[in-house]
Amino acid sequence: MPRGIFITFEGGEGAGKTTQLRLLQEKLEKSGKTVVATREPGGTPGAEALRKLLVNGDAYDWDALTETLLQFAARRDHVQKLIEPALVEGSAVLCDRFYDSTYAYQGCGQGMDAKAIDAIRKAVIGELKPDITFLLDLPVEEGLKRAQAQQRYERLPPEFHERLRQGFLTMAKAEPKRFVIINAAQDAEKVAEEVWIATQKRLK
Ligand code: TMP
Repeated sequence: MPRGIFITFEGGEGAGKTTQLRLLQEKLEKSGKTVVATREPGGTPGAEALRKLLVNGDAYDWDALTETLLQFAARRDHVQKLIEPALVEGSAVLCDRFYDSTYAYQGCGQGMDAKAIDAIRKAVIGELKPDITFLLDLPVEEGLKRAQAQQRYERLPPEFHERLRQGFLTMAKAEPKRFVIINAAQDAEKVAEEVWIATQKRLK
């Protein structure tokens, strides 16, 4: 059985990742693929328990390293128990955020050193890398308006979110083969079309 494709969706708050992931899932399933749709932090019971601490409600004020470790603890469980087995079985795995979010939020946003994140990533999940990462890029003001501050990170100031946006764009430009930057200010249908075209190209 050939290994499945691993596709991640990244971007700031309110960029429409979750909607786009569902639309891609529908199209892939229609084309006959088995799809596993998941999210981070989360995706397994253990990682969802960590998500509750990290994302929902009034989270404790951890420092950037502690928060990075918690994100990677959730990610290790998710990779071991869900992502890697699904890829080995040949499924397409679609994940709403993955390690690029740690570089953006804990790195660019909270000041964690990127080289330290590199070292932790390698120790925790080895060489695993998405095959395609869609960066849904949107002006910060627009994204925060759409997101309506329901979660902890969404309530952080606009400067924090601007650092994230620039961080994501820098990462995407450094890895042009993996990243596809998409203008998320367009209609959802147009975004979905661009996502589908890029996916088909990679699947060939
Ligand atoms: P979301 O599923 O609505 O995007 O929410 C997840 C939140 O968690 C989002 O605000 C970004 C944040 N996050 C990090 O700070 N670091 C990470 O590594 C991941 C995966 C998410």
